[in-house]
Amino acid sequence: MTTLAAHAPPLAYAAVRGHTLELARGLSEADCQVQSMPDASPVKWHLAHTTWFFETFVLEAAEHGFKPFHPAFRVLFNSYYNGIGQQHPRAQRGLVTRPSLAEVLDYRRQVDERMAALLRRGCSAEIAARIELGLQHEQQHQELILTDLQHLLSCNPLCPVYDEAWDAAAAPAESAETLAFVALPGGLVEIGHAGPGFAFDNETPRHAVHLRPCALASRLLTVGDWQAFVDDGGYRQPRWWLSAGWDWLRRDGIEAPLYWRRGGGGDTSSAFTHRFGLQGLQPLRPGQTLWHVSLYEADAYARWRSAQAGGPPLRLPIEAEWEHAAALAPPGLWQMAGRAWQWTASAYAAYPGFAAWDGAVGEYNAKFMVDQYVLRGGSPATPPGHWRTSYRNFFPAATRWQFSGVRLAHDAA
Ligand SMILES: [Fe+2]
Repeated sequence: MTTLAAHAPPLAYAAVRGHTLELARGLSEADCQVQSMPDASPVKWHLAHTTWFFETFVLEAAEHGFKPFHPAFRVLFNSYYNGIGQQHPRAQRGLVTRPSLAEVLDYRRQVDERMAALLRRGCSAEIAARIELGLQHEQQHQELILTDLQHLLSCNPLCPVYDEAWDAAAAPAESAETLAFVALPGGLVEIGHAGPGFAFDNETPRHAVHLRPCALASRLLTVGDWQAFVDDGGYRQPRWWLSAGWDWLRRDGIEAPLYWRRGGGGDTSSAFTHRFGLQGLQPLRPGQTLWHVSLYEADAYARWRSAQAGGPPLRLPIEAEWEHAAALAPPGLWQMAGRAWQWTASAYAAYPGFAAWDGAVGEYNAKFMVDQYVLRGGSPATPPGHWRTSYRNFFPAATRWQFSGVRLAHDAA
């Protein structure tokens, strides 16, 4: 059992809550309502659920004579906490047309007022820790608002633009560099959150790991790198693919990264020429960071590239290699933070000595430690200040709607 602990200075409540509203500004009620797939949630649901988190985990514990904003919201906006009670089915979140967006915004305002009063009164260390968790949670949903909205807008043949200037650094200069490999000495190293400051329970405890010498790619894969794989028929040759990956590819008709589009206008070739993003439909450019591939695709690419390049077999990094390299910050290693969630070959599992947080918040991470892979690094959709080197993101191997990219690795020659 581990206790959720408060750290100073906490994130600023009003700033984090305000940023969520900022992301939704300019969206219509319809934009906020529709759910494009079971994995993604409507923006309105995110606005309500993040509020529910403060109401349920903070106000209910801290307010005398607590009364919920609406008794039905306890089930309606509970994501997955069995310790709290029942949940509305995830795949049916888009069918919840009432409460309206205006009512959800009222819910946010009322809970924010009650939270402001609580912060003025002062609270126990335990409640302060839950407030911090609520803000970290809200930041995670800020990223999901963007990825879920991108998926929704991608279903519209008009290719709506969310923000023309989104990710203005789409082709950072280092992406143009030849892909090199940076040696990482092996040995006994430590990974995991070392403090100070907030970390999720799944980043702890810090522990020793024995690493073999290896090398990590100097940069992430680019659109140009990936186009060579597509052009070489990489998606049509089973020898590059894990069995489950090949089954997935055939079942879902996968031919390219998610959001890649074949040429419009006068282009009659079968080549992929564009990709859809939050800035609308953009021409594919070789220097762009590659996003929206599954673990299966990342793994297949590594096998294909090994066959082209010769040299040591290429693979994905294991998460301890990734974190150790990020902590060392070796010269020549670029794009470790904030350009893409980088698939690792590591299954998402508890660290040795792991203990989930006490109570219902213990369901936050621990119960998902099966059938998923760890991604490292953060993406342009990750809110500023949210990510850290020890941060472990996790998704099933076929997941593509997050900003998932690829950094290659190999064992030392
Ligand atoms: Fe959540």
